[in-house]
Amino acid sequence: MAILITGGAGYIGSHVAINLLQDNEVVIVDNLSNSDTSIIEKIQKITNKPVKFYKADIRDKNKLKEILETNNIETILHCAALKSVEESIEKPLEYYDNNIGGIITLLQVMQEVGVKNFIFSSSATVYSESLEPVNEESKIGNSSNPYAVTKVMTEEILKDLARVNPDLNITILRYFNPIGAHESGLLGDNPKFVPTNLLPLVAKAASGEIDSLNVFGDDYPTRDGTAIRDYIHIMDLSDGHILAINNMNGFKIYNFGTGTGSTVLEVIKEFEKANNVKVPYKIVGRRKGDFPVSVCDATKAQEELGWKAKKTLTQMCKDTWNFEKSKQN
Ligand SMILES: NC(=O)c1ccc[n+]([C@@H]2O[C@H](COP(=O)([O-])OP(=O)(O)OC[C@H]3O[C@@H](n4cnc5c(N)ncnc54)[C@H](O)[C@@H]3O)[C@@H](O)[C@H]2O)c1
Repeated sequence: MAILITGGAGYIGSHVAINLLQDNEVVIVDNLSNSDTSIIEKIQKITNKPVKFYKADIRDKNKLKEILETNNIETILHCAALKSVEESIEKPLEYYDNNIGGIITLLQVMQEVGVKNFIFSSSATVYSESLEPVNEESKIGNSSNPYAVTKVMTEEILKDLARVNPDLNITILRYFNPIGAHESGLLGDNPKFVPTNLLPLVAKAASGEIDSLNVFGDDYPTRDGTAIRDYIHIMDLSDGHILAINNMNGFKIYNFGTGTGSTVLEVIKEFEKANNVKVPYKIVGRRKGDFPVSVCDATKAQEELGWKAKKTLTQMCKDTWNFEKSKQN
């Protein structure tokens, strides 16, 4: 099967590409706004398989159509998006243009060319605030920041499209907090600009690249006052994609997380212990758009796909550090 990964040079797309290449042809489209071509070389090095790469923007309709047609694409995995909560608050129009404009163009082209299988990289951020684990039926509608709104809107667009096109297979994957890196140390979370996700910042604080890590808020209603998230190893997430792609059937939604939450301070302590390093940090005020708790109930993915996250937080911390160190060599 030929699979197109939009945003495939990014963190999640590149790790999923490694697993997909075992049994499929992979075509990647990425405008490199948050990545570079070295990632494509690394995917090929790890897998020893060729990857067809196009530097293109998913809002470029003509180019996209040409790519879909010439490569006989059967399935699209849509990872391309802007993803920073903070940046989206500063630049809402950029987020709506890229994330909403992008998916509309992509879906139009998909329909024109006749591709029937579509997987969307959604996020835990679609859920409304909840102190309890959320399942796929829990209330969605987070409007605390434009990034979250683009995910909610995209899910609505896909639901509407599925309703009038029962022949389409559309799967929405709601990722919780992917962290960690490929065991080779060649690939990991390596944004072009200042990272906003926790683990790349923890690694930078440990390596001395930044003086200290900002912990946003210690007055949340949690066991140590810092926010709780459900961290999932990137390779577990990648395995989940393979199962989701192999089990597409109509309109589906799955949570991908471990079901266990960790506070920011617990992650820092685990990182220090797993890697025998010090992570300097300071507590600062809460960050706009953050919820106190975001933890997943992943029962549906287990029951329907037979998927369960296996890797521990210790392994996630070790692999993140291994990647950080190999970048420095
Ligand atoms: N990493 C996370 O914590 C997380 C959590 C939940 C959901 N997600 C979602 O998963 C998807 C992938 O996230 P990621 O962490 O790999 O991000 P990333 O920034 O590492 O990768 C996204 C890739 O998309 C590309 N891109 C962006 N806009 C594009 C456009 N218009 N045309 C072509 N390419 C474009 C970027 O250059 C980048 O390589 C995103 O949709 C993100 O919202 C990520």
